[in-house]
Amino acid sequence: MTQTLTITRPDDWHLHLRDGAMLAAVLPETTRHFARAIIMPNLVPPVVTKADAEAYKARIEAAMPEGARFAPLMTLYLTEETDPDDLAAAHAAGLISAVKLYPAGATTNSASGVADFSKVQAVLERMAEIGCPLCVHGEVTDRDIDIFDREAVFIDRVLDPIRKSVPDLRVIMEHITTKDGAEYVKSNPERLGATITVQHLMLDRNDMLVGGMRPHYYCLPILKRREHREALLAAATSGDTRFFLGTDSAPHPTHAKESECCSAGCFTAPVALACLAQTFEDAGALEALEGFASLHGPAFYGLPVNSETLTLTRSETPVTFPTSIANGADPVTVFAPGRPIYWSAP
Ligand code: NCD
Ligand code: ZN
Ligand code: ZN
Repeated sequence: MTQTLTITRPDDWHLHLRDGAMLAAVLPETTRHFARAIIMPNLVPPVVTKADAEAYKARIEAAMPEGARFAPLMTLYLTEETDPDDLAAAHAAGLISAVKLYPAGATTNSASGVADFSKVQAVLERMAEIGCPLCVHGEVTDRDIDIFDREAVFIDRVLDPIRKSVPDLRVIMEHITTKDGAEYVKSNPERLGATITVQHLMLDRNDMLVGGMRPHYYCLPILKRREHREALLAAATSGDTRFFLGTDSAPHPTHAKESECCSAGCFTAPVALACLAQTFEDAGALEALEGFASLHGPAFYGLPVNSETLTLTRSETPVTFPTSIANGADPVTVFAPGRPIYWSAP
């Protein structure tokens, strides 16, 4: 018997669309299922100013597939030189929904990120004043900190001090990967939310490393041990409105993933909802899917919930998904969780 599940049309609260040919290749994979997405600004060069965000938004709109109903929610990339007036103007114009903090060197295209956090204090205060939220890639980058500890150390050394010094700032911890991250959100109910990716709900570091190294599971923050995945899944399925979906779908050409120095990022957009439905079903929490994917994000961002719906279908036999999508001469491998998925989205 075929089962269906109809939910409010979801949004993606953390998405990489890139630019140029890659943008055109990956955008339809998101607009097919999602009504809105927070668009990450880590282009080369990054989206730093109001003018940059206007131009990038126009390029996204020009690449939109025929008939798509999709709203890109733009962000600015915070640097030590960010001009608070330019940021405030972009926010007042309704152009940007958030500002993104990358610690310098933490992840893909983060070289222009923040090294000295005291240099952005005034900008953060201005953001708190105008009600512009801060999205955070929460990892320290000190070479002496083990890569598996970078998120927990970031919370203690950077995030908690920022939140105490700018208490009115609304913060989204992007792609949390640890029990520490989930617990920090739960114990700080005021003005704090977190996005969680599909891969961090489905996989742990054994999936990436045991029996051979799987580059398509390599993303940052890196997959952690199983107890962390379990804590994330518990948070995502709990109905707690501070946790919501941010796929962090991060396309790289297959050759850049399957290389001597693999780029960080999992391209999950085409399969995100199918994988998520399977994960929630396996956890006995299918009823919590709509909150996580469609309701909690708008509530945190103060936006209306989408009026359209999306119907997922459960088949009797596992669904076959495309293994890659075309992108000129550089195809992009689609995330495959390594287990049967019975759900699909139209
Ligand atoms: C992202 C990317 O490729 O832009 N990569 C990743 O591993 N998540 C950057 C990011 O979100 O940190
Ligand atoms: Zn990140
Ligand atoms: Zn990301």
